[in-house]
Amino acid sequence: MTTTFPIEEKINTLLRQMTLNEKIGQMNQLSGTNEYNEEMIRKGAVGSFLNVSDVDDAKRYQKLAVEETRLGIPLVMARDVIHGFKTLFPIPLAQSCSWNEGLIEEGCHIAAKEAKAHGYHWTFAPMIDISRDPRWGRIAESLGEDPLLCGRLGAAMVRGFQGDDPAADDRLAACAKHLVGYGAAEGGRDYNTTIIPERSMRDTYLPPFKASVDAGALTMMSAFNEINDIPASANHFTLKQILRDEWKYDGMVVSDWGSVTEMISHGFAQDEKESAKEAINAGIDMEMVTGSYVKHAKELLAEGAISMETIDNAVRNVLRLKFRLNLFENPYFTGDTEEVTLCQSHLDAARKAARESMVLLKNNYMLPLKAENTVALIGPLTHAKEDQVGCWSMDLVSESSVTVKEAFESSAFSTTFAAGLDSPRSTETKGFAKAIANAHNADIAVMIVGEDAILSGESHSRAFIDLPGKQTQLIEAVAATGTKVVLVVMAGRPLTLGSVLDKVDAILYAWHPGTMAGPAVLDLLSGIESPSGRLTVSFPHTVGQIPVYYSRKNTGRPPREEDRGIPAGTPLNPEGFASYYLDVDFRAQFPFGFGLTYSTVTYSTPSLSTNSISTTGSLTAFCEITNTGDTPIHEVVQLYVRDLVGTVTRPIKELKDFKRVALAPGETATVKFTLTADQLAFHNRDMQRVVESGEFHLWIAPHSEAGDPVSFTVKT
Ligand code: GLC
Repeated sequence: MTTTFPIEEKINTLLRQMTLNEKIGQMNQLSGTNEYNEEMIRKGAVGSFLNVSDVDDAKRYQKLAVEETRLGIPLVMARDVIHGFKTLFPIPLAQSCSWNEGLIEEGCHIAAKEAKAHGYHWTFAPMIDISRDPRWGRIAESLGEDPLLCGRLGAAMVRGFQGDDPAADDRLAACAKHLVGYGAAEGGRDYNTTIIPERSMRDTYLPPFKASVDAGALTMMSAFNEINDIPASANHFTLKQILRDEWKYDGMVVSDWGSVTEMISHGFAQDEKESAKEAINAGIDMEMVTGSYVKHAKELLAEGAISMETIDNAVRNVLRLKFRLNLFENPYFTGDTEEVTLCQSHLDAARKAARESMVLLKNNYMLPLKAENTVALIGPLTHAKEDQVGCWSMDLVSESSVTVKEAFESSAFSTTFAAGLDSPRSTETKGFAKAIANAHNADIAVMIVGEDAILSGESHSRAFIDLPGKQTQLIEAVAATGTKVVLVVMAGRPLTLGSVLDKVDAILYAWHPGTMAGPAVLDLLSGIESPSGRLTVSFPHTVGQIPVYYSRKNTGRPPREEDRGIPAGTPLNPEGFASYYLDVDFRAQFPFGFGLTYSTVTYSTPSLSTNSISTTGSLTAFCEITNTGDTPIHEVVQLYVRDLVGTVTRPIKELKDFKRVALAPGETATVKFTLTADQLAFHNRDMQRVVESGEFHLWIAPHSEAGDPVSFTVKT
């Protein structure tokens, strides 16, 4: 987002008029509505609110700020619009599996329309924390394990929220969060410690944030976690050296909820005053909800612990956001709230997004269903309006949420329904009998199982990530009837499905698909559209395997094909001597990039425009893909590269590009990628971003474990 002179002039003119109290007030964000908050507005002691969920309250608060304070500086109103507002789209992890930047951008645009109409100007999204630990509840909000994909999709979200003019009636300011490394929490426990070496920071965790900055994200949010012993909200390396000095970022940085005063609990600050000092000096421009800035900044300034220049810079960043949102000229939204909310076009878009987010993991030629099939709908998530939308769905209008049961019962299929269990975590099996009886009397059992919404999202990490409750037993009981089973899994994370995998004939991983979950599942199971989703996180066989991700290092003793299972022999002549497990395959249960369709696709060996490029050159890679089946599909073609030898060890594979390609039955398409040497850059031993010469492998493949590579070299 470019800084325009007129805005800077306006900022400085206003800044010169502001008292110290008014300046500190702009750095203060409060939540909700109460008498104290109203009093703070009147005193000019608050610059922003989150969670003012009644549009009339929002208008009243804005009127107070604009018309009853000395300078009339408008409030910026925020909300967590994470995957939709009233029309809930699939959770971000699901949306990421569409690999469809345009679809994701449009979904965020729709969310912005609905939220702006309800008085909000700013959303705390996209969440672009690289997530490689499915025990972590917030993997649900993430865009997966890969820096390139997370960066591309996060940028699409920024564009969708902000558009070309974030002040427009259908746009919001975006907020790239949580800076940085939140997903690397030890043990997958939320808010936990992270230790991230600088090279991993620069080559894995920061790139999505740089992509959001390049896409024009107006704001950023600091994380709860400590990073290498320094809390993220006091971290000069990330907040000043990276964000301001290296990236020249001129947006506004807000803390996370209480992350400033949590420095006391971290054992990093003696008290609230010291935590406020650390955050202000690190460059947290606005503090969320504790009021620590308003309480202590004046005293800190008087003591010389913070400077007026630091205060002024923070206030400039806050005012710049408000000018960029045109709030001084247009503080009140005058659009039609009801007109945009939950309109048919929004619901249709949510249904399309849900379809493209679901990933077909197994299909013993069971799907699509035949129109004449009788279907026994079974499972605790078959009719679960709130649970099917997943985490961060506080603005859901429950009756608008369409379940699988409702969708099938309004279709031409002959169906029966038995929940089998009252909820996903229920251990009461009295409902099994009806489920089993229905399965006996049907051609196909379609079972909708998984996690209720509360099992993922913030502070909801799990040590075991299998199907909760007695769902596995329910699936086994239904499968034992001999009726074919199609499993639909709704969850906020990859689950370890274990023995179930071999007992069912098809698995559609639906994640938490949102308001239109039911119609989207029906569309795919009935064959109206083929599944096209591809995994953006690796699925472990078991929780003991975590972390498992595709771009791993090779190690000095890489596992070999034969390295699996308990070896023969005795302790005297053990086999193996490689980095693998005795008791489980070292690779993912389902790898990054994987997903089936209702057809089959062949890939030619990639051809290259050249087998040698300079460190500033580029090449073009081609691959012919053919739909060898009789169903139209979308194929997500993925370009991977491996740097065989570096001055530091390099991953065995890295995603460098991808394309969604529509293929009619029998159609052959030539997919073309341009790969620049710069895309091969990484940070070397001296922490410089370099392109090194040497030999590389290149794959064009349907997922991260498929295909054979071709070689090329980079020459200085
Ligand atoms: C929460 C989350 C953050 C969210 C903020 C406001 O604790 O960590 O992602 O935007 O507080 O709700």
